[in-house]
Amino acid sequence: MRTLLAAVAALALAAATSRAADAPPSWGKLCASCHGSDGAGHTKAGRKLDVKDLTAADYQKSFTDDEAFTAVKKGLTAKDGTEKMKPFAEKLSDDDIKSLVTYVRTLAK
Ligand code: HEC
Repeated sequence: MRTLLAAVAALALAAATSRAADAPPSWGKLCASCHGSDGAGHTKAGRKLDVKDLTAADYQKSFTDDEAFTAVKKGLTAKDGTEKMKPFAEKLSDDDIKSLVTYVRTLAK
C-alpha cells in the first residue's frame, strides 16, 4: 500500500511539473507567430516588429507581471504610436492571460 501511495504521489508530482513547462494552447495559437514557440522571437513577424528575447533573464526583469498582463490584455504601442502588440482582451480571459504570463516567466534561462 505504501509503495502504491508513493507511486501515485510521484506521478502527481511529475504531472504537475510537466504542466508548468507546457505552453498553454493559446501560446501556440496567438503568441508564437511573433514570439516563437520557444519565446526567443526568431520569427519573421518577430524580427519585423523587433520583439525582444523572452528567454533572456535581463529582458524579463524589465517588466513586472502586472505590466506583462496589461501589455497582453491592452496591447503595446511604441512611443511613435505604432502598434507593437495588439490587445488580446477579446480573445483571452484574465485567467488565460495570467497563465500566459506565468508561462512566459518559465521561458527565462
Ligand atoms: C504581432 C506580434 C506579436 C504577437 C502576436 C504577440 N506579441 Fe507579445 N510582444 C510583441 C512585441 C513587438 C513586443 C514588444 C517588444 C519591445 O519591448 O519592444 C511584445 C512584448 C511582449 C511582452 C513584454 C511586455 C512588456 O511589458 O514589455 C510580453 C510578456 C508578451 N509580449 C507576451 C505575449 C503573449 C502572451 C502573446 C500571446 C497572447 C503575445 N505576446 C503575442 C509582439 C507580439
